[in-house]
Amino acid sequence: MKQINLVYVCENCGEESSKWSGRCSNCGQWNSLVEMRGLNKKNKAARGDLASPISINAIGIGNFINISTGLGEFDRVIGGGIVPGSLLLLAGDPGIGKSTLLLMVAERMKEVLYVSGEESCEQIKLRADRLKVKNGDIKVLAETNVNYICELISKDKPALVVVDSIQAMYDENFPSTPGSIVQVRECALKLQRVAKTLHIPIVLVGHATKDGSVAGPRTLEHLVDAVFYLEGDRFKETRILRGIKNRFGPTDEIGIFAMEGSGLKEILNPSELFLEERVGSSGSVVTATMEGSRPFLVEIQALTATTVFGYPRRTASGFDANRLQLLLAVLTNKAKLQLQNQDVYINVVGGFQLKEPAVDLAVAMAVVSSFHNKAIDSKLCVFGEIGLSGEIRNVPQADKRKKEAKRLGFTEMTHVRNVHDVINLLFK
Ligand code: TYD
Ligand code: MG
Repeated sequence: MKQINLVYVCENCGEESSKWSGRCSNCGQWNSLVEMRGLNKKNKAARGDLASPISINAIGIGNFINISTGLGEFDRVIGGGIVPGSLLLLAGDPGIGKSTLLLMVAERMKEVLYVSGEESCEQIKLRADRLKVKNGDIKVLAETNVNYICELISKDKPALVVVDSIQAMYDENFPSTPGSIVQVRECALKLQRVAKTLHIPIVLVGHATKDGSVAGPRTLEHLVDAVFYLEGDRFKETRILRGIKNRFGPTDEIGIFAMEGSGLKEILNPSELFLEERVGSSGSVVTATMEGSRPFLVEIQALTATTVFGYPRRTASGFDANRLQLLLAVLTNKAKLQLQNQDVYINVVGGFQLKEPAVDLAVAMAVVSSFHNKAIDSKLCVFGEIGLSGEIRNVPQADKRKKEAKRLGFTEMTHVRNVHDVINLLFK
């Protein structure tokens, strides 16, 4: 008799176990284990054709030439272009513009199959009209059955497949609902196999979900070749495409777009966009930050206000709150600034997240400027890491930052060694 190997998989966290139980031993969720067919051990042993290793020099990479999509900001982030046979994941909040971005990529490529599990063909056509897509080479399929989709891919062999979204796909061999961990994982595995065997790149769309009941893209991160997030504020037009993992390229590059009435527009001069509405009052300082190989000028704003209750508030949006505490301690201790009874608020304009220490000096100067209620030169760009003794340290790629500052008509400070000097120079 054929022996079936059953495993039980938690729909909440994906944990596998050999026995059913009412509660998942890993995440503690009740009634979340579902029965699945595991690997058949007999079949595995019966496999006769053992794969033999190949000398590394004998491996041809003819198939792994990046195919440029022609959408510059997208190409930069994915590492020059799409690698044949790769499985990519584009994740992001619902409504952020994932479908829009991929339709724009599809327009620039030949023989694309756009599978939509969420929208009807008419809805996609409406979006395409809005984006003024003229490429008649895009084939649209409204389907959610992953087996049917794989069959179609094997038959038609398109040059690129977009699956929008992986959470809408299902495999009828598994009992759980679309969007559950089990379905998402099984569907992604099936598509991965098709991508690898036929050398067809597949882009999956995944909705980022904060709660665990619907499988978020996190489940897929180890399974796909590259993960990209499209971020941004739904109420602002800037969208940032960021690589989180990439087997074929860098992960530190970002792509910047603006969501407009007729689709996403590539922002080629982001510094100008971020500084557009600048007033240049007290508490505002411009800094130069690096994202991958590109420098950006961004404005940092600070506001200080006397604390009403005993304990001062320190809040930062776009900057690390702990780092802010540290900088305030340096300013209090080394520059003798009376910040003990001051609430401090920091805001990075444009929705940017600044993580590098190179922006320390700009944050500190914004605080001092607001505290003294004195604006600093609106054409000054400051950057530098602040150490615990109040010393100012060199930052990586300073030349690129200076060049970008100069391009936009900014000057920078030279010959300053510590925070005290800077304050003297700017505010005395
Ligand atoms: P969409 O690509 O459908 O988001 P996702 O696939 O990530 O859920 O885009 C949704 C939003 O973008 C929608 O609120 C409308 C807006 N939008 C524009 O502003 N301009 C456009 O040209 C398009 C197509 C969409
Ligand atoms: Mg969508």
